[in-house]
Amino acid sequence: MAELIGAGGLSRFFRQHGVPEIVIFAGKGGLGKTTSSASLAYHMAVNEGKQTLCFSTDPQASLSDIFERDFYGKGVIELLPRLHAVEIDADRRVADYQAQVKKKIMEMYGLDAVPKEIDEYIDSTSAEPAMYESATYDAMAELVAQRNFNLYVFDMPPFGHGVRMVAMADILSRWVDKITEARTKVAEYDAVAASLKGAKATEDLVLKELSSIRAKIKIFTDLITDRQRTAFFMVLIPERMAILDTERALQMFRDLGITLSGLVVNQVYPVEMLDAPGLSDFTRKRIEMQQRYVRQIHQQFGNAVVATVPMFPREPKGLAMIQEVAGYLMGEPTQQRV
Ligand SMILES: Nc1ncnc2c1ncn2[C@@H]1O[C@H](COP(=O)(O)OP(=O)(O)OP(=O)(O)O)[C@@H](O)[C@H]1O
Ligand SMILES: [Mg+2]
Repeated sequence: MAELIGAGGLSRFFRQHGVPEIVIFAGKGGLGKTTSSASLAYHMAVNEGKQTLCFSTDPQASLSDIFERDFYGKGVIELLPRLHAVEIDADRRVADYQAQVKKKIMEMYGLDAVPKEIDEYIDSTSAEPAMYESATYDAMAELVAQRNFNLYVFDMPPFGHGVRMVAMADILSRWVDKITEARTKVAEYDAVAASLKGAKATEDLVLKELSSIRAKIKIFTDLITDRQRTAFFMVLIPERMAILDTERALQMFRDLGITLSGLVVNQVYPVEMLDAPGLSDFTRKRIEMQQRYVRQIHQQFGNAVVATVPMFPREPKGLAMIQEVAGYLMGEPTQQRV
């Protein structure tokens, strides 16, 4: 039986649930997060008249690549009226942050230079994985707080589905809380000691810094767990590993308090291809295999599928193709046999 899957697309989802302020595309590497993000941002800006910002921290500059404009690390740029994009250079932000920390240390302790060991230690922190996430939370929180746009589309980085981004926020905030607790105790003792000596306690700059880091992480986690403000989609393809992976990721997201808004099934061979004359046995088998997994996705994830995007003969790049992908993402039906 031929039936329309994902008919209605994200358009229907937004009609039913309202257009959120933030849309996040997560999912395993290389299955279509950036393609979906760019397409949705394009659609909302061009067809729905919303001031839109498409945001990425992918070091491979994949947004620049798909929009065919080089804006990596160059701040927010306007691609078309209402369509804006920004590609954060997380490494540069980490370097700026390290420079700031060094400056603060010199100010706090009245030094002309940061001691060699501390300097080396701070430089070595750029290799820590949490630094990249930290820079990303910072950038996201900063942009959303400015409230210059009606819609923010967050394209998650290539590693760990974006799960790592969220999990790391959780770990980081616990860690910051622990240190803050210890530091608060120290500040209390300091205050008592100072009052005994008749002096005024000095402001704890470290504590201030910790609370500012905590606040930024909190803005990020609050945003992505807020169902009113944020819609959260996962992109997958009809293949076994992608299904298994999505299942695992969904469990992790549930544990972190994030509710899935829907699944986008990408790179699906149009089923009409099966009727094409001269179809090779190889291609027929691939299409049939995909159709089995499409069925499995529907059985397993029920109504979660909100859109199906077909496999294109070439990589979607440039505004004309982005517009075409957007059509499917928003609801143009593709024929599947279920
Ligand atoms: N429907 C499609 N048809 C054909 N090619 C596609 C389709 N969707 C995505 N691609 C191609 O597949 C590759 C991966 O897509 P994309 O960059 O959107 O994935 P991603 O999830 O953002 O990857 P990463 O995890 O590396 O960030 C790209 O080269 C893209 O052009
Ligand atoms: Mg990407």
